[in-house]
Amino acid sequence: AVTPTPADKFSFGLWTIGWVGQDQFGAPSREPLDVVEAVTKLAELGAYGLTFHDNDLFPFEATDAERTAQIDRLKVVLADTGVVVPMITTNLFSHPVFKDGGFTSNDRAVRRFALRKVIRNLDLAAEVGAQTFVMWGGREGGEYDHAKDVRSALARYREAVNLLADYVTDQGYDLKFAIEPKPNEPRGDILLPTVGHALAFIETLDRSELFGVNPEVGHEQMAGLNFTHAIAQALDAGKLFHIDLNGQRSIKYDQDLVFGHGDLQNAFSLVDLLENGGPDGGPAYDGPRHFDYKPSRTEDYAGVWESARANMVTYLLLKERAKAFRADPEVQQALADAKVAELAQPTLNEGESYQDLVADRSSYEDFDAAGYHNARGFGFVRLQQLALEHLLGAR
Ligand code: GCO
Ligand code: MN
Ligand code: MN
Ligand code: MN
Repeated sequence: AVTPTPADKFSFGLWTIGWVGQDQFGAPSREPLDVVEAVTKLAELGAYGLTFHDNDLFPFEATDAERTAQIDRLKVVLADTGVVVPMITTNLFSHPVFKDGGFTSNDRAVRRFALRKVIRNLDLAAEVGAQTFVMWGGREGGEYDHAKDVRSALARYREAVNLLADYVTDQGYDLKFAIEPKPNEPRGDILLPTVGHALAFIETLDRSELFGVNPEVGHEQMAGLNFTHAIAQALDAGKLFHIDLNGQRSIKYDQDLVFGHGDLQNAFSLVDLLENGGPDGGPAYDGPRHFDYKPSRTEDYAGVWESARANMVTYLLLKERAKAFRADPEVQQALADAKVAELAQPTLNEGESYQDLVADRSSYEDFDAAGYHNARGFGFVRLQQLALEHLLGAR
C-alpha cells in the first residue's frame, strides 16, 4: 500500500527534482537535469504529474524555435509515459528585470512586460492541458516601507490578475488560478503573505470564482502558523485549488524539506484532513498531491530520486496511519469524549430565534458556569497521545 501509483495523484515541480543545489553561499552541487529524464524517472517512481515554470523548461532568453523544441520534447515524453501536466506557473522572480517584482514593480514598463510573459504562459498552460495556473509572487513585496506604496501595489496586483482572468475567459480556457502565499524570501516582506491574506484579496477580484489558493506547508509554518488550520479555512472558503507539500522546521528560512521531514504531527493531521475530512468521512480534496521541496544540496542524483520517493511514501504511510487512527475504537471513544462531533451541531435549534434563546433560562440564568470549573475535562491530550501512538506505529 505504500507503493505510489498514478491513482494517488502525486506531482512534482520540475524545479524541485531539478534544483541543482545553488544557494546564497554556494555554487550548484549537481549537473542540470533534463526534462525527458525527469519525466521518465517520475513515471518509474509512480508519480502522475509534472509541473513547471516556463523557464524550468526553456531559458528566459530562448528563441521561439528553442522554446518550441523544448515543448515538443516534453509532449513526446508525456505521451510515452502517460505523465500529465496538471499545473504550470510563470517565473516572475529570477531575471533581474523582476528585481522589484512583476505585477507590482514600481516600474510600469516591467509590469507590462510581466503581463505579456504570463499571457504567453497561459497559452502554454492550455496547450499542455493544465487545469491550474499557480501564481507565487515571490518578488512582489519589499524591504523598505517608504519604497513601496502597498495600497497601490495591491491595486496593481488586482489589475493584473483581473486582466489575466479576462484573457482566460475570452480564450475559453478551462483554467483556474491558485495564488501561493509566502511571508518572506526572497523579499523581506512579500505581499499576500499568508493563506488568510490571499483569501481576503481573492474576494475583491472581478472573477473571484476563478481564483483559489495554493498553500505551501513550509510557508505558513515560516509565519509560525498552523498549516492544517490554513487548509481547513481554505476548504471552508471553497478555495483549496492546489497544494504544495513539503517540510519545514520552525520559523526560519524556507527549507523546502521532504514532506514529513518537518513538523510530522502537523503533517499527520493534514493528511487526515485531506483524506478523511470530507463531510462523509471521505477525501476533502481531490486535486494533485503536489510536492514543492528541494532535494538537499548534499545529495547526488541517487539521493534526489530517493528523496522524491520519500515524499510519496511518507504521504501514503500517513494516509494508512490516519485510516487506522480513525478505525480504532479507543480513538472513536476519545473523539466522543472530546465532543469533536458536537461542534458540527448548530448552536441554535432548527427554527430557534435569538428571542427564543434569550427566553431559554437553561442557556444562561440556570446554566451552571461555576460548576463547569470541576466538570469533566475534554480529554484532548489523551486524543493527541492516541494520534501520536498511531503515528509511531505503536497501535
Ligand atoms: C518558493 C515557492 C516556489 C513556488 C513556485 C511555483 O518558496 O520557492 O514555493 O517554489 O511554489 O515558484 O510558483
Ligand atoms: Mn517553499
Ligand atoms: Mn522554496
Ligand atoms: Mn511552493
